[in-house]
Parts: sequence; C-alpha cells; structure tokens
Amino acid sequence: MALTFRLNGEEVRIPDADPSTTLLDWLRGERGLTGTKEGCNEGDCGACTVMVTDGRGSKALNACILFLPQLNGKSVRTVEGAAGPDGSLHPVQQAMIDHHGSQCGFCTPGFIMSMVTAHANGAADFDDQLAGNLCRCTGYAPIIRAAEAAKDAPVPDWITRDRPVAPGTQPLMPRSADELAELYAASPDATLIAGATDVGLWVTKQLRHLPQMIFLDGCADLKDIEVTDTAVRIGAMADLNALRAAMEPLHPSFAEMLRRFASQQVRAAATVGGNIANGSPIGDTPPALIALGAILHLRKGDTSRELPLEDFFLDYGKQDRQPGEFVKAVSFPRQPDALKVYKLSKRFDQDISAVLGAFNVTVENGRITAARIAFGGMAGIPKRAANVEAALTGQPWDETTINAAAAGFDQDFTPMTDMRASAVYRLETARSMLSRYFAELNGKAVSVLEVKP
Ligand SMILES: Cc1cc2nc3c(=O)[nH]c(=O)nc-3n(C[C@H](O)[C@H](O)[C@H](O)COP(=O)(O)OP(=O)(O)OC[C@H]3O[C@@H](n4cnc5c(N)ncnc54)[C@H](O)[C@@H]3O)c2cc1C
Ligand code: FES
Ligand code: FES
Repeated sequence: MALTFRLNGEEVRIPDADPSTTLLDWLRGERGLTGTKEGCNEGDCGACTVMVTDGRGSKALNACILFLPQLNGKSVRTVEGAAGPDGSLHPVQQAMIDHHGSQCGFCTPGFIMSMVTAHANGAADFDDQLAGNLCRCTGYAPIIRAAEAAKDAPVPDWITRDRPVAPGTQPLMPRSADELAELYAASPDATLIAGATDVGLWVTKQLRHLPQMIFLDGCADLKDIEVTDTAVRIGAMADLNALRAAMEPLHPSFAEMLRRFASQQVRAAATVGGNIANGSPIGDTPPALIALGAILHLRKGDTSRELPLEDFFLDYGKQDRQPGEFVKAVSFPRQPDALKVYKLSKRFDQDISAVLGAFNVTVENGRITAARIAFGGMAGIPKRAANVEAALTGQPWDETTINAAAAGFDQDFTPMTDMRASAVYRLETARSMLSRYFAELNGKAVSVLEVKP
C-alpha cells in the first residue's frame, strides 16, 4: 500500500509498504535510523519510543508495535530529529547531560523521546510520563531531575513545526464508521487494527502472518467521547489516555486505575474498543464499565445492535460478535459517583492485573438499593459477582452486611491459579476489596499512596 508521512520534518512517500511492517523495523532496516532501539519488541520497555503528531496533538508511541499504515498522514519524530537541523540540542537532551541522566545509554533515546513529547505537551507528571521507559543502570532520579530542569524551556521551533501531511487515500484505511461498515462486511475475515497494542505482538512475538488488515485509525467519528446530562458515550477508537481524561471529573477512581493501565505510550495507542473486543479476562476497562451499567454498541453493514456489556463476553475467547461486525461505541448512564476500581498487580506501574474489582453500590437512607460489582482475573471472562450483589441489595449498609455478602464470592467465582496469583489468593483479595470499598465509602484512606508516616 502507498503511504505518506513526515519523518523528522521531511515528507516521506512509501509506494508499496507491507502493512504489517512495524515502524521500528522500517526505521532501523530501511532508513538506517538506528537511534530508535529495540529492547523487548513488545511494548514493555520504551526503548523504541518516538513522537507522533496528528491533528489531535502529539503522542509518545512505541515504534515496535506500530504498523506503518498507522502513520499515514502523520508526523513522526525519532531521536535523530530531537535536536535542531543546525545541531542545537533539545532542552531535554541538554538537561540529561547536565543531570547525568545516562550511563550505558541504551534506554536514553526512548527516554529522550518521551521527554520531548511531554515537554511539547506541557506535561509535568514525570513519574507517569516516564513509567513506560525502563532504565537498568542510571536509575530514575537523575532522569526525573533532567525532565524537571527542562520543563520551563520554550518548545523548540523544529518541534512546533511538526504538522500532519495530506494522507494518501487507501482502500484498507476507512475514513468513517460508514466506510468501515461497508468494507468489513465485504471482508469479514480481515483483522481489524485499532491501536495494535495486542495485534502488534501477534506479529512481533507470534510471527503471525495477517493476510488482510483493516486500519481503523482514520475513522475520526469513532474517536469521540460525548458526555451529556444523561449519558457518557465512548467511541471504540477513543484511546485510553483520552478515556482517562474524560473519567477524571466523573469517576476519578476509574481514571486513577487507568493511570496504571500499561504505560503512557501504550495508553496513547490502545483503544477502548480493542480492550473490549479482544475478550481478555484481564482487560482493565470491561469490569469498570460493567459496574457502571455499560451498553455495547455493535454494527455490521447497515445494522446496529446494542447489548449489556457483560453479555458480550460469552466464554473464554468467545464473544457475541458476528463476522463483519465491529464495536462502534460503549455507553453508560450519568450517575452520582460511587464507583471504585481496585487494580491488583505485582508491580504498581505498567503491569497486567492479577485481579481487578469494580464496585458501584447505591445506598439510600442507610440501605443498599442497587449493587453492580464486576471482576477481571476471576473467571475466563470479565464477570459480575451476582451472588454478592444479591446479598447486598436491600440490606443495611453496615459491616455485618458486608461480611455476610463476602461469602458470595465463593459461589460467583472459581478462579484459576497461574503465574500472577493463586486461586485462593484471588478469592481472598476479592473479599478484601469489598471491605476496602466499604471502608473507602465511609471516608477511610485505603490506597497505599495515602499511607502517611
Ligand atoms: C506493554 C503492554 C501493557 C499492557 N497493559 C495492559 C493493562 O494494564 N491492562 C489491559 O487491560 N490491557 C493491557 N494491555 C493490552 C492492550 O493494550 C489492551 O487490550 C488494548 O486496549 C488493546 O487495544 P488496541 O486498540 O491496541 O487493540 P488492537 O491490538 O488493535 O486490537 C485488539 C483486538 O481487538 C480487535 N478490535 C480492535 N478494535 C475493534 C473494534 N472496534 N471492533 C471489533 N474488533 C476490534 C482487533 O481485531 C484485535 O482482535 C497491554 C499491552 C501491552 C503491549
Ligand atoms: S522495544 Fe521495548 S517497547 Fe518497543
Ligand atoms: S542508561 Fe543504561 S539502561 Fe538506562
């Protein structure tokens, strides 16, 4: 396929790109731009970070799980383009030198590009901005000090000049939900590519050949998040960083969980639709959305249908989705915020959940009038805790009710033992999360981040 994008300020045309080529392989193999490093080749280490700019702004992305067509019409900046055309260093490069932010240097290009992007976006939450970049030898303190030191320097003009270019039109890159519907109905065996943070690994790790790929990135009408007085509707192509920003004022606990969803680079690519459609039992957004009473919006050709999100997940690896049908959006009613989402993982940042519990209980005049509780990591699919919900509903909001209801988890779930957690531990943590929810709604500090000496 023919692609056009800007690379370090220069327009590039690729007349016959293989759509499953990653940007990392192309940069290093075809362009000789070896500053962008290959560490893990699975989105985990950030050594391959580049900055990608389009009409919606600039993102730091992992080049190892980014397919070339995802760049069509955009502007890409690699570490070779961090300094100006006359060789002047970017302020974050100078600060890394001044603050001794590099030893072996393997991670450094990735850090630089995350820092260049954060700097361009005026973001100063550097622990979060850099959580997707691993450094084995320098240690993070000098790197964070460098980021802090550079933050008030003006954004260099060679960075502000990064602009999208006119993309070549492509049959496999629909520009709207309507075009996608037509194309996918005609080619139901094609693989849909949203952010490619799952599919990228099928290619780089499982060495799978994808005979036909449809890229959804151009479907601008699937990217919006609409908040009205009555409902929140999230387009399937909204990325996880956009979702986090939208949830912050509405359901802050959901937003806080999303801060720990993978890393900045993965969240900037990963979409809500991909997190649902992949059917993972440990996807982080489905339990939270189910607890909020979410409805899934699907479309096939001219036909649209809706179903409660929990009903989409039929069994491990099996979803209620027909050939040629795609996820259009997910929506949930506006409601007073009682949602708490607890993500339990071995590492605080950038780790997949062992167990994720989402709790949404309505209490009126001291009595529980409604309860929606959903878990990831407790079954082959994201699943509601129906017995616990039933044991809570209609009861007084007190410790006796909570303790009695907690026994219901044994009926609701038969979790498995794997490398992330044992079955016994998973059940124990589910019970603990219910107690934590009770404590938190009663005003007690329950986050490890709130523990004060
Ligand atoms: C380093 C790393 C860390 C991660 N950490 C987490 C984490 O903490 N929590 C978590 O939940 N996940 C995590 N993931 C998994 C992944 O990022 C998410 O599942 C993500 O939401 C997938 O979205 P995507 O847009 O990248 O999907 P893609 O990879 O593009 O697609 C995933 C699947 O969904 C299908 N698909 C995509 N969009 C649609 C649509 N609109 N309609 C129908 N089918 C569609 C694709 O065909 C494919 O089968 C991590 C991944 C990596 C690489
Ligand atoms: S090489 Fe590790 S994130 Fe890309
Ligand atoms: S400087 Fe060696 S890995 Fe970071």
